[in-house]
Amino acid sequence: MHAKDYHDLGTPAADGASVTLEIDGATITVPAGTSIMRAAALADRDVPKLCATDTLKHFGSCRVCLVEIEGRKGFPASCTTEVAAGMKVRTQSDALAKMRRGVLELYVSEHPMGSCPVSSRCELETLAGAHGITQSRFAGPKTARHVHTHEPVDASNPYFRFDNDLCIVCSRCVRACEETQGTFALTIEGRGLESRVSASQHQPFLESECVSCGACVEACPTGALMEKSVLAARISSDERTQGACLGQIFGNMAGVISVSGRNAAAERLFRAIQPVMQTAKTMRKLQLPPKAARKSEALSPKLRRLSGPGCRSTSPARTSRSIARLTAGAPRLTFAAI
Ligand code: SF4
Ligand code: FES
Repeated sequence: MHAKDYHDLGTPAADGASVTLEIDGATITVPAGTSIMRAAALADRDVPKLCATDTLKHFGSCRVCLVEIEGRKGFPASCTTEVAAGMKVRTQSDALAKMRRGVLELYVSEHPMGSCPVSSRCELETLAGAHGITQSRFAGPKTARHVHTHEPVDASNPYFRFDNDLCIVCSRCVRACEETQGTFALTIEGRGLESRVSASQHQPFLESECVSCGACVEACPTGALMEKSVLAARISSDERTQGACLGQIFGNMAGVISVSGRNAAAERLFRAIQPVMQTAKTMRKLQLPPKAARKSEALSPKLRRLSGPGCRSTSPARTSRSIARLTAGAPRLTFAAI
């Protein structure tokens, strides 16, 4: 999830010709192709949202961002509807407030208020709170809930954990994995109440194709995907989290690491492991897939032998010293406690 002071405009920028429209009586000019949501945010009339974020393409699944457009029937989603010249949009009305409240209550029935470990950083709880929701009319023992509710937490990844119970199936993590990192490690499997986030073939994150870049953690609007360092420290300030995922360890903010797929992530991984290589077991967990190891030109053969799939070391101290020797001169990286 984003830092609190980050003004998320909801959808990425467009670069078309200028279009002028009216939002809640304010006139604004934006490039053609801009979503109503982004135009409204630029006019300081932010529309509530859950599945949208300006680092990812629009998706249109949560139905929280509905607006009214003069002369059009219904309530279109502002994240998927583009601006048009002369359009008159209303982002606030009694009907919209009632619908948004109903939708948010449905989400809160699955994700009760206060259930996130760091509630102040949960976009759903913040939004529900802003709409005066403290509990859901739809919550109760007889209410059908997602089948993933109460599944065990997946804490296999050293940097973050996935708690399915807090997931609202917004797909932001899946899209971040595809669009930001280009890894395609995550999918939504199943439909309706059976839909759930799945890493590779329904595997624990560490055994999946996940490269621990942190893009999914950054994109998640709830505490479903959360850095272990944040959980340990219960960070609730406006600060961005300390480096916890690989993307951050490399000196970038999670979710914005440069992408050229798994090989690039693997190379960065080798630069990052220097300070943490303490046990051979850890090394085997962080090993490269054979194909990526072969292609990584920057890896010295020795380093690859020490840390790759063929790693047989039973002497953590010696391995650690060898790694330190081989990576001498590489920038010292700060590693958050796991
Ligand atoms: S893990 Fe987070 S980002 Fe992914 S679907 Fe669930 S709530 Fe959305
Ligand atoms: S933010 Fe528009 S449908 Fe989710």
